[in-house]
Amino acid sequence: MTSDQATTVRELLTFYLEAGVDCALGDEPIDRLSTPDLTPPDRPAAAEAGTAPVAARQPPRQTATAAPRAGIAPPPDIAIESAREAARTAPSLDALRALLESFEGCALKFTASRLVFADGNPQARLMFVGEAPGRDEDIEGLPFVGRSGQLLNRMIGAIGLKRSDVYIANVIPWRPPGNRTPTPQETQICLPFIRRQIELVNPDVLVTLGNPSTQTLLQTREGIMRTRGKWFDYDTGMRTIRAMATFHPAYLLRSPSYKRMAWLDLRAVARALEDKTPEQSAST
Ligand code: URA
Repeated sequence: MTSDQATTVRELLTFYLEAGVDCALGDEPIDRLSTPDLTPPDRPAAAEAGTAPVAARQPPRQTATAAPRAGIAPPPDIAIESAREAARTAPSLDALRALLESFEGCALKFTASRLVFADGNPQARLMFVGEAPGRDEDIEGLPFVGRSGQLLNRMIGAIGLKRSDVYIANVIPWRPPGNRTPTPQETQICLPFIRRQIELVNPDVLVTLGNPSTQTLLQTREGIMRTRGKWFDYDTGMRTIRAMATFHPAYLLRSPSYKRMAWLDLRAVARALEDKTPEQSAST
């Protein structure tokens, strides 16, 4: 590589970093500026005449730089309908996870490394829901394992619980590329799955972390400064769960002065859990 080429590559990588790209999607680079080889492949006579079985026909010739075949998500209204249908049929959390693993309705799946379904105790009385996985979560396949996850662990510890005592999930189970904000369509496509997940976990208290999950799940347009610390009713369709919004740990890392308010919210959550013992919750 000449020093001019090295400079160009460095400038390109700097541009990518500034644009928010922080991981590679494939092992091999793709030269999207090269001219694709569109020469039709040599076909056996039977395939030419249309008599060969589909599987025996040759695929179009791929150049060394052709993009890998990514899945193509259907239009959002079709995807939302099929998400609703699929989520409704999941009888258990394992079945729901399996459905999500095979669901191809959300384009985020094709850029994420893996599904980030949940962590913690599926029988928990307390469930936290965040927005979407970030880079660390995408690598590990678990929600809230990065810096904000470490703060969430401390928040959970502050009310005398461990991470393994609670259940943690996100509205969106795949990392948006470069941590961009999920689109409203992506959120609507994923919503039936997180709603079913909440229904199956059936916690006594639901805590939404930050604005996006609060507005999506608690159906409010108010910002987190107004919604936090207040009780909402979350209707699973089977029963009503007490729900509270609080600040997202990532926001608290940027604005630590709000930790005091988050602490008040968590104290209220702890009191609500004390009010309702497991025996009481089993009988409701
Ligand atoms: N932020 C979220 O909303 N969810 C995660 O899992 C990690 C960071």
